Amino acid sequence: AAVALPLERAARTQLAAARLPENQLPRPFQTEFTVPPVAKPAYQDDTTDYYEMAMRSAFLQILPAPLPKTEVWGYEGITPGPTIMARRGRNVVVRHKNWIQSPGHEHTSVHLHGNATKPQYDGYANDTTNPGEYKDYHYPNGQDARTLWYHDHGVHVTAFNAYMGCAAFYISHDEHEMSLPIPKGKYDVPLVLRDAIFGTDGQMIFDDQGHSSLFGDVILANGAPWPVMKVERRKYRFRILNASISRGFNLALSDREPMTIIGHDGGLAPEPVEVTSYRHGMAERYEVVIDFARYNVGESVELRNLGLPNTQDFATTNRVMRFDVVSEATDLSNNEIPGVLGNSEHPYSPMKLQESQSVRTRRFEFGREIVNGSEMWTVATDGGPGRIWDPNRVDANPGLDDVEIWEFTNNGGGWFHPIHVHLIDFKILDRDGAPPHPWERGPKDTVYVGEGETVRMIMKFGPHKGRYMIHCHNLVHEDHDMMAQFEVGSGGDDPIASAPARPTS
Ligand code: C2O
Ligand code: CU
Repeated sequence: AAVALPLERAARTQLAAARLPENQLPRPFQTEFTVPPVAKPAYQDDTTDYYEMAMRSAFLQILPAPLPKTEVWGYEGITPGPTIMARRGRNVVVRHKNWIQSPGHEHTSVHLHGNATKPQYDGYANDTTNPGEYKDYHYPNGQDARTLWYHDHGVHVTAFNAYMGCAAFYISHDEHEMSLPIPKGKYDVPLVLRDAIFGTDGQMIFDDQGHSSLFGDVILANGAPWPVMKVERRKYRFRILNASISRGFNLALSDREPMTIIGHDGGLAPEPVEVTSYRHGMAERYEVVIDFARYNVGESVELRNLGLPNTQDFATTNRVMRFDVVSEATDLSNNEIPGVLGNSEHPYSPMKLQESQSVRTRRFEFGREIVNGSEMWTVATDGGPGRIWDPNRVDANPGLDDVEIWEFTNNGGGWFHPIHVHLIDFKILDRDGAPPHPWERGPKDTVYVGEGETVRMIMKFGPHKGRYMIHCHNLVHEDHDMMAQFEVGSGGDDPIASAPARPTS
């Protein structure tokens, strides 16, 4: 098929007419499940691995031929991008090059979601890199082992850039996690889920329904529509990330057998938790063990999406992927789930924090209000007016090493907000006064705040001073303009001015 020309950004937002009708969507379980490649360092020294990552436009056969190839913007021209593998105590430096050459492409900024970096390396939304420029990001990897991800964070274009494919895994290990007998190697599988809308020309359509939400009818697992994964009769550890713009999932196995939650955004759970389904908002990571030993060779089981309130479901979005059990286990080492998993001694781990340690409580309300004559997504702090993003305004100022309780309220109106706090991990204290759901009792950096809900979290601010963002991870809400910032301590590095030089090449 002829390769389509890159579409103007405007054309991608001119939707419905060109939308691929349901009866022309690919049939489920026709594509093979793959895992994104592991990134190779450009060079290494005693302390640091150096990577070079070019954000590029590329045409990929996402929909099966004869449907045309789809233009994506991806790290190294693939989506999901290459997985960066890190170890605690060893630095990573990534040179992120904005080489996207496509009409309508604007600036980028790269946020590594789950790493406590200095402000100038955090992917601050206004710290933008223009086409033809690069920026070096320094990651110290002091955090506990966990599933991180990096994605675009350019101010006001985050949803579009991420939708086009700028998202990838970054996995960090530590001694404790590696010593556990949990599934490793090829049985430790990164799995990113997202939805998308495709046009009859094979190109992705960006329809955010008037800056409300983008709901696609095609589910991509590691970039493939409803793929099939061949598995052995044993346990697998899936590091599941929801990289959708607006879609939350309610994940379950088709036979409703249990899955075991062993990890969260901030690393291992204190103890394993069995669930028959769980809610997975955008940007959250859940590490989920599925034991395929309960099936016979030749049997299959599907990962399904049971749907959620305030999420537009299509007939096609209840399916996610299928597992075909094709053989006995070829390796039964690391096939256990110990009763104690994470037991973090990290100074900023939220898991042992007590409410009595908190020096103050701050309230944030997430709503939709008229600002300067247009309806916007807003954040109100401590009873103040709902406001939109302003990089010159600081909305909260915790002291370095202060423990605080933050209370998030979703004012309602027909949507949920997954709220992400940069820099720190938190522990959910309660949800409308009730204990957190069984699946969300570990260290987290993003919390699902359902319509009308109030959720309280406890967290300790550090180790860096400076300005960081807090925002809704429905990226359409973030862009229009549900984003605020806090400043840890006073001063600290400037998230923009002290960034390294970014020569054009
Ligand atoms: Cu995953 Cu500030 O974002
Ligand atoms: Cu939101």
